[in-house]
Amino acid sequence: MNISEALKKTHLEFNQAGFRSPEEFKSLASELLSLADQEINDVNSGETWEAYRIKWAGRRDSVLSRIADNWLKPATPEWKRHIGAALNLLRLRVERNLDNSKLDIEQLGKAIRGVDLSLPGVERAIGTRHLIQQTFDELIGIFLSIGFSVVEGPEIETPYYNFEALNIPEHHPARDNMDTFYIEGSRSPHLLRTHTSPMQIRTMEKEKPPVRIVVPGKVYRRDNPDATHGYMFHQIEGLAVDTDITFCDFKGTVEYFVREFLGPKARTRLRPSYFPFTEPSAEVDASCHVCGGSGCRICKFSGWIELFGAGMVNPAVYGFVNYDPEKLSGFAFGIGVDRFAMMKYGITELPLLFQNDVRFLKQFP
Ligand code: DAH
Repeated sequence: MNISEALKKTHLEFNQAGFRSPEEFKSLASELLSLADQEINDVNSGETWEAYRIKWAGRRDSVLSRIADNWLKPATPEWKRHIGAALNLLRLRVERNLDNSKLDIEQLGKAIRGVDLSLPGVERAIGTRHLIQQTFDELIGIFLSIGFSVVEGPEIETPYYNFEALNIPEHHPARDNMDTFYIEGSRSPHLLRTHTSPMQIRTMEKEKPPVRIVVPGKVYRRDNPDATHGYMFHQIEGLAVDTDITFCDFKGTVEYFVREFLGPKARTRLRPSYFPFTEPSAEVDASCHVCGGSGCRICKFSGWIELFGAGMVNPAVYGFVNYDPEKLSGFAFGIGVDRFAMMKYGITELPLLFQNDVRFLKQFP
């Protein structure tokens, strides 16, 4: 018997329906169960739910009420058992279907009603470049505009590039303030670079002069953490080598850079210093950007702020990269980016730069 025929039979009196055996009746009852299950799948709104309820469980002229009135009432006690059991089963199934589908519809309604299209959208913060990155970009931009290009190098270095080739032999006192982290278990010794200077060597090994590069990157040192020291900080290395570079080119480049970064009024001063890879070496100072040079707390009443180390490339370094020290000359510098960021924005605590506290970072959009 197909399903719609089973449904039609519920309109007939028990005798007219003409069930020949309880088995035949049971198979019709199970057809009705599957039809009830099938039709609930089409229920997807308050209206279709109500139509289903009326069709299957309504008080008058529903499938359940017809089975009760047309079949159960007039049946013999023997048939009443079968019909009663089937009717109960179908009633339970229809009620369960109605309950489940009501929940589904309510949830759907809630989901749809929950979206108020007249409200402003959810605003997602896009974020900004970190202050360190902003400072990198600003500093590098100045050098790009005068013909330098950017290269980057490995943070895990060999002692050869980090020290020896930069004219810092083992046991040289210049290593004292460059204690670092050594990598265990590597076949040849490795360390976390203590400065970006190794890229001077790597670049000159690979490229013929003229060389004009800046090298931004992270560097590491075993320092005791305090307001201005951590185990990691950022540098920009600079290197210019050519056949005719003089101390005047060095000084002119440094002065140009300082004016670009601190403003046209900034004055520059070179103080004698020492680095194994430069000769002569200098500390570059600028007139204090806060008091203009008259003396204040920021410059410790000296009128000058220490900016970075620099110098003319030591001819000994050319020996490590097969450059001819008789024909070539150049200058180098190493800028501490974190220091520059702190100076420019009046930040007194270095750790603030690395704690990723949004309340701090938001101040530098
Ligand atoms: N590498 C030095 C340091 O980390 C900084 C430096 C000084 C780099 C002078 C240079 C330079 O290239 O010429 O302390």
